[in-house]
Amino acid sequence: MPIGLIWSEHFAAKLGIFANLPGVIALATASQKGGVGKTTVCINLGHALARRGWNTLLIDTDPQGGIGLSLSRNTRKKRGFYDFLMAGGNVRPYILPTRLPEFSILPCGVPDAFLKAGRVDDAPQKIQDLLRQCDILGYDVVLMDTAAGLTGITEVAVRTADWVLIPQQAEPLAVRSVPLLLETLARFRSEGSQVRVAGILLTMLLASHEASLKVARELREMLPASFLFNQAIPRDPLFLEASAHGLPLGLLRKNPPATALLFDQLAADIEERTGLNTRKDQLQSHASLLD
Ligand SMILES: Nc1ncnc2c1ncn2[C@@H]1O[C@H](COP(=O)(O)OP(=O)(O)O)[C@@H](O)[C@H]1O
Ligand SMILES: [Mg+2]
Repeated sequence: MPIGLIWSEHFAAKLGIFANLPGVIALATASQKGGVGKTTVCINLGHALARRGWNTLLIDTDPQGGIGLSLSRNTRKKRGFYDFLMAGGNVRPYILPTRLPEFSILPCGVPDAFLKAGRVDDAPQKIQDLLRQCDILGYDVVLMDTAAGLTGITEVAVRTADWVLIPQQAEPLAVRSVPLLLETLARFRSEGSQVRVAGILLTMLLASHEASLKVARELREMLPASFLFNQAIPRDPLFLEASAHGLPLGLLRKNPPATALLFDQLAADIEERTGLNTRKDQLQSHASLLD
């Protein structure tokens, strides 16, 4: 791309000109309950998207810092999302690189001061500014891992996001909680939020248990087919092993286990649903396999 064009696109994005420029896509998780696999999905999906070439930033908006706890105990002491919400300014110094150049993490930081000050009022502007900075920094995707429930900062993150991904544990209560969550999201949209549902992702599915499969079946019968992702994440002890090593599943073995590949499929599905796959150099010219 000619250098002048890069300059003008970035400058235009900064000024909010050409609103239809392909900017960063912000995807937040949402669920009423904790322990449904939100953080696990974010880490593994973030890794899969990065492996597929997207510049991906994973933001931990959960004050309990699930991402830090899963990946590295050290991130606890690092400044991050909540420090940015307090102070504003340049977010770049808070972003941690990973061993994959395309994958970066904004840890939750130290939430105490923010939570004590209770300054949720200007959080929407701060998160919008954060996403604008991510755009200028060249990120393609921002994944926001959230705390359970749709209140406080989680509510702000979801309202500000372009897309919401709903991890849903394959357990009987799901059949009641999913419609409630969807109604809340519909209310956010009626109040001006542009957030769209990327899909519902069944997690912790026990294929050997009829009760777990029944939930999956009931949800598929209850909702339009497009609401549920084709992939379902099985209950797999490998997640505990990966988390003990501070790794996404894909980095646990030289040859990634089958469950890790599900996140690759999920990433491909999300690329299609969000239009990411129509971007950039995705439409490559077809060279023949043999010359
Ligand atoms: N598919 C799964 N199979 C087995 N264990 C899982 C799975 N997903 C998550 N876990 C484990 O369950 C616990 C809660 O998951 P987590 O991702 O932290 O949930 P949340 O972020 O929704 O609170 C963690 O110990 C995690 O390692
Ligand atoms: Mg979590």
